[in-house]
Amino acid sequence: MQKESNKGSNLALIATMGALHEGHVSLIKRGQKECSQVIVSIYVNPTQFENSNDLINYPKSIDDDIDILNSLNIDFLFIPNKELMYPNGLVSKVFDLNGIDEKLEGAMRPGHFQGVATVVDRLFELTQPDKAYFGLKDFQQVQIIKKLSLIKGGTPEIIACKIIREDSGLAMSSRNSRLNVKELKAAASIFKALKFAEKEVKVFPTPPAALIREMKSIINSTGHIKVEEITFAFSDNLDVINDPDFPLDHYNKKVHCFISAYAGDVRLIDNHFIC
Ligand code: PAJ
Repeated sequence: MQKESNKGSNLALIATMGALHEGHVSLIKRGQKECSQVIVSIYVNPTQFENSNDLINYPKSIDDDIDILNSLNIDFLFIPNKELMYPNGLVSKVFDLNGIDEKLEGAMRPGHFQGVATVVDRLFELTQPDKAYFGLKDFQQVQIIKKLSLIKGGTPEIIACKIIREDSGLAMSSRNSRLNVKELKAAASIFKALKFAEKEVKVFPTPPAALIREMKSIINSTGHIKVEEITFAFSDNLDVINDPDFPLDHYNKKVHCFISAYAGDVRLIDNHFIC
């Protein structure tokens, strides 16, 4: 197929762990719009799973994935094996990520972001993309990878892409395929709680403690989803907002809310800009 000339000759990387859904597709389509060629990688990276059951149970649907990618007419599909990704053994490198890797998700999942940085670094090395597209569904991951790219001299350019949601508001995720019908319905409460916080802060000078109480109740009262953590943090440096009583809109800094919750043994995460 003839490529449009105004895109120049450049390569977009969309790194995934497979079990593709509309969230992944949106990154691919954006890459296709902005670059002349697109490479999609599928590799379930062991070093970013600190919980071995989570790794074992991670959904896999390679035949469906290939069908989706064929229908999108991408240029390259890269499915590396462990030997290619980890020629020196299955261990993470250690990157100086300014401590971003130890906050929020990093505090709950020690070593997770060093594993992500290690595998993404290797993917960059092997595929040499000009631009790499990542979803804001994993808000902290985007910041980690931007830092990684800086360490590497600024290439590839990291493009952050918006969160794609189901009609119910549930953020699309490969892990959603492991939810039963009741859990799937109840999981919409996660975004409901985030929207609630955004709306409250617009109307009242609301402190985090009161919001977190209400948000937990919105989610836990479904009976099928249990909150692990609800945290407010500054959007730029991800510093956690610790004062339970100081209104969020009085900081004059952008604030995000981060939620992790469980449906059975399936861990779900979401985030939303609050003010
Ligand atoms: P995975 O969870 O497969 O996600 C691949 C990419 O799709 C990530 O950039 C993720 O943020 C994005 N994504 C997932 N759900 C999305 C949604 N609902 N809306 C928009 N984007 C979404 O994230 C990983 O894999 C891995 O950590 C990886 C970067 C591949 C490294 O192993």
